[in-house]
Amino acid sequence: MPETVEDIEFRLLLEAVLRKYHYDFRGYSIASLRRRLRQARERLGCRTFSQLQDCVLHDSSVFPTLLSYLTVQVSELFRDPAYFRAVREQVVPYLRTYPSLKVWVAGCSTGEEVYSLAILFREEGVEDRTMIYGTDINPEALRKAEAGVYDLDRIPLFTENHRKSGGKSSLSDYYTAAYGGAVFDKSLRRRAVFSDHSLAADEVFAEVQFVSCRNVLIYFDRELQNRAIGLFHDSLSHKGFLGLGARESLRFTEHAESFEEFDREERIYRKRGDR
Ligand SMILES: C[S@@+](CC[C@H](N)C(=O)[O-])C[C@H]1O[C@@H](n2cnc3c(N)ncnc32)[C@H](O)[C@@H]1O
Repeated sequence: MPETVEDIEFRLLLEAVLRKYHYDFRGYSIASLRRRLRQARERLGCRTFSQLQDCVLHDSSVFPTLLSYLTVQVSELFRDPAYFRAVREQVVPYLRTYPSLKVWVAGCSTGEEVYSLAILFREEGVEDRTMIYGTDINPEALRKAEAGVYDLDRIPLFTENHRKSGGKSSLSDYYTAAYGGAVFDKSLRRRAVFSDHSLAADEVFAEVQFVSCRNVLIYFDRELQNRAIGLFHDSLSHKGFLGLGARESLRFTEHAESFEEFDREERIYRKRGDR
């Protein structure tokens, strides 16, 4: 298909974002990125992607808004409870055997996945030996993750998810209601660190025993998926675990042979010992 003017403008906009703001979206899957950029264009009152590019290049206060369209910030506590049940019942018995444990939540958004794992590790008695690194490219999401305050109206869903994940206590043990929000217990963050890291541009993050990366790879094209999984592979210790969740898979990626299936339904993999 011949390139349309909008195709050209779209590519130039991504190039401008990379050159001025050092965020690389060129390896994201095009259809959904373009749809979201059209929404951003409308919201910012621009007629074309070229106008949007002009606006973003000359007014850096616009970039955070654009970034909020470029990155999808949807998350929940214990989102997809069956995944957390599998982590709790299948993975933790192995993790328990390590004297110290590092976990990397890649693309942690506003922190819900990190708090879910912190609660789960506390309930399973491995909190004290565990460090959780939550990384993302969206600084606003990382700020919210640090704060650990969520809207009170989300609590019924979070409570139900926690229960379905095999939660051993009441979710209300972990937060207090204040200022119209649910403020999660600071002690859950004692062993959590949030930081900026891009799966598209940065190198291996740290040596970890478990990587959880859910609802992130779906936004990447095949090449970028390969890059991200390569980073996970290189950062995992011998026989470490990789959890992708039911929507994503290692199939069709370059690294499929380097992992064995550990939980087929929840797409939890284990790094092969010989690779
Ligand atoms: C839909 S959220 C997933 C949040 C959480 N993992 C979950 O499943 O609930 C996707 C997250 O991936 C982040 N993301 C997008 N591109 C990224 C990249 N190149 N490196 C790291 N994180 C990225 C976005 O900023 C966003 O916070």
